[in-house]
Amino acid sequence: MNREQKYRLLTQASPEEMAALTDLVARSPWRQKFHVQPATGLLNDPNGFCFYAGEYHLFYQWFPLGTYHGMKYWYHTKSKDLVHWHNEGIAIAPGDPLDSHGAYSGSGIVKDNKLYLMYTGNTRDQDWNRQPYQCLATMDESGLVKKRSEPLIANIPQGYTDHFRDPKVWKDEDMYRCVIGAQRQDLTGAAVVYESPDLIKWQLRGEIKTGLNGFGYMWECPDYYELDGNGVLIFSPQGLDPEGERYHNIYQSGYVIGRPLNRDTLEFDHGNFDELDRGFDFYAPQTMEDEKGRRILVAWMGQPEVDYPTDSHGWAHCLTIPRELKIDQGQVIQQPVPELQLLRGQPMEIEDKITSEVRTYKGLTGTCYEMICEFHDIKADVVGIAIRASEHEQTVIKYDRKRSALTLDRSASGEPVGQEYGMTRSCHMDGEQLKLHLFVDISSVELFVNDGSAVFTSRIFPQPGSEGIRVFTEGGSADIAVTKWDLEQAVDLKKGEY
Ligand code: FRU
Repeated sequence: MNREQKYRLLTQASPEEMAALTDLVARSPWRQKFHVQPATGLLNDPNGFCFYAGEYHLFYQWFPLGTYHGMKYWYHTKSKDLVHWHNEGIAIAPGDPLDSHGAYSGSGIVKDNKLYLMYTGNTRDQDWNRQPYQCLATMDESGLVKKRSEPLIANIPQGYTDHFRDPKVWKDEDMYRCVIGAQRQDLTGAAVVYESPDLIKWQLRGEIKTGLNGFGYMWECPDYYELDGNGVLIFSPQGLDPEGERYHNIYQSGYVIGRPLNRDTLEFDHGNFDELDRGFDFYAPQTMEDEKGRRILVAWMGQPEVDYPTDSHGWAHCLTIPRELKIDQGQVIQQPVPELQLLRGQPMEIEDKITSEVRTYKGLTGTCYEMICEFHDIKADVVGIAIRASEHEQTVIKYDRKRSALTLDRSASGEPVGQEYGMTRSCHMDGEQLKLHLFVDISSVELFVNDGSAVFTSRIFPQPGSEGIRVFTEGGSADIAVTKWDLEQAVDLKKGEY
């Protein structure tokens, strides 16, 4: 694809082109019902996630005109309950001198009754050299967005390449601070801190001194927060090699946790890097603290540089459901926000004992539902469930006690995706109990294992008729308790608009 095509603005598309694209999307069998998704084109990172003027505001990276990473906009959605999302239109359009080649990722913070959106303006000169600017746009209560014509940070500090982006801002008692994703000149990743008294004048403080040197070639979308006396640094490192069950996606997202960041020395004393999600499709997460004091995370349910089956349907990707983050024994625990219960219909409940067999139950089927499946008193070698199942398709979640592994297998899920990165994802697991909490949408599954100690997030592309749910054990018995709720439509309530 040539550059002109890739960096086209929405205003350069004809009404006929947009109508054809919208029509193509409408015919896609894989449109989601309760996940934020683009009206057309490609969605990637969540941006500017904030509680402002009585509502949750969630923006995302958007290229409207195709399913490749082209000219990026910030698209705005909002919600009163973190569940029903309304499309609000474009918040930040690129194309000005500071963001001539895209309004890249960033974050939001409320000050003086305004929402300050700090983002990376991506520019290229005639020789295609990249120059990133850290920029500001402010939104008022009416939703009006104004860009500041001067950059907040105009230069790349000494020692870093032009991969310098994704400011995540927070407020400390003394100062505002932000952390920016960076690549050092020796082509290793880092996170760089700036501070500001007013969100306008920013001063370079330096790198967060982690114990992770040479850990990937670029850290995208860093995020720092504190909870219960711990400091947590989240980032998305690129360039890690697979290691056992870890790091099998093209790029990773995870965190390190430790004592709070030392604001003077920027020393950060922390434990091992851990992936936030063990599934196939999770990247560039962003957190926010809401008015109830909860730390909430949303991520892009996708991966860069991987083709997806909806590409030929004129749209790609969605965001994850919001998850509340807690800390337990030095580990981040993630649970779906309780507000999602608003979508539940009538529950269907089953209790049974299964011995070396595959069971189905009348009425236990679906394509859009929440389900909690508990296995107790596990004597079997293997227990599990298959969802979105039919004669030829199934997505399998199984716990193998001999291997001490919990595995999500999408090798028969439907239309293939990212096969070169493998068809299964696993994490370590033991014990005689297992709780699987699933959110299944038309083309995705989010699995919270044992109350959020592990999460597997994945797109799947089954046929609409693959609705079956099977519960099974191999080599012995287990008691099961299943509760399933069909879920209502919660996005695209208003027709998508640009
Ligand atoms: C992460 C990312 C960011 C960048 C944005 C551009 O997926 O590459 O680093 O700001 O996407 O859309």
